[in-house]
Amino acid sequence: MALETTLILCKPDAVSRGLVGEIVGRIERRGYVITAMRMMQLTGDKAREHYAEHNGKPFFQGLVDFITSGPLVALAVEGEGAIEGMRQMIGATNPLTAAPGSIRGEFGQTIGLNLVHGSDSKGSAERELKIFFNANEFVSRKHDLAKWLAD
Ligand code: RTP
Ligand code: MG
Repeated sequence: MALETTLILCKPDAVSRGLVGEIVGRIERRGYVITAMRMMQLTGDKAREHYAEHNGKPFFQGLVDFITSGPLVALAVEGEGAIEGMRQMIGATNPLTAAPGSIRGEFGQTIGLNLVHGSDSKGSAERELKIFFNANEFVSRKHDLAKWLAD
């Protein structure tokens, strides 16, 4: 395994339904580290860029319409094997077949309203992180609390 950073989106349905805390809590409890985080509403251009691999498929326009329909929360998540680890935690695309215990398996409603996006490979993660974050927005999490607790 290798230390990886992946792009996670709490999609507009997750924000609307008040599930951002649940999703972020699962990421933290898994031991992954959030190195950037932002709430935003995507423009059509950014949405088409993010989902470029699906351009031309029958669901593409609906996907762009939905992801731009309300605010989402974007996160950069770091950890050993975090790309595949987050995909496992998120579960299969269709909530009906997503594993019990996964985010989509527990909370997802339909294939379109499946709450979370996670990058599917190292190449996708690198490409997608740049769409959502500037290089200077990633923080270092090597914060030594012991120093501040001393006395
Ligand atoms: P995501 O990119 O959002 O993490 O989801 P994924 O890898 O599990 O699925 P992907 O194949 O990349 O599809 C992206 C999103 O498009 C919607 N979709 N709809 N109606 C359909 O057949 C269909 N197929 C995909 C889903 O919302 C999926 O998350
Ligand atoms: Mg995908």
